[in-house]
Amino acid sequence: MELKYKTPIEWAENAVKDIDSFLQDHADAERKVANMCLSLIAKYPNRTEIIDDLIQISVEELLHFKQVYQLIRYRGHQLNGVFQKDPYIKGLMSIIRSDSDELFMDRLIIASIAELRGSERFKLISQVVNDAKIAKFYNNLHLQELEHIDSFIKMAKIYFDSNEVDKRTEIILEREAKVSSELPWRSAIH
Ligand SMILES: [Fe+2]
Ligand SMILES: [Fe+2]
Repeated sequence: MELKYKTPIEWAENAVKDIDSFLQDHADAERKVANMCLSLIAKYPNRTEIIDDLIQISVEELLHFKQVYQLIRYRGHQLNGVFQKDPYIKGLMSIIRSDSDELFMDRLIIASIAELRGSERFKLISQVVNDAKIAKFYNNLHLQELEHIDSFIKMAKIYFDSNEVDKRTEIILEREAKVSSELPWRSAIH
């Protein structure tokens, strides 16, 4: 899978200008992905083939949350308790179909694409951030998030025709490129 909009390095240069705000936003994002996996389990308890994987990803995202929290502490700060709406996720959610099966497929595809975008941007952050410890963290993290991309698509393909999933992924990738390219730059992952 390939993103249809490539984030320019200038985006990362801008984002790290306020690395503390970036870390706050990122901590929040990791916690949300862990929550999202758990809410999929709660909503679809009968889809037993994917529950183990969802638990596993949730654990890994929670670990990322812990690691970002540690970086926030290392920088001498605490969680600021500010939960900003994520305009990226909002933009992607608007494409979700309402039929229950289609909705399930779309959620998994969006999860996968969001992992891909996250991974792309973590790598860029690692290249420009002016702190060796943070740079190392983001370089490692980008590799770990790469693994989640395939996990979510594999889950979708357990329940839906592979070609259907690929076709839908293309459509959502188009939307994701539009959303990503149009959002104003902030010290945040999106
Ligand atoms: Fe993560
Ligand atoms: Fe992830």
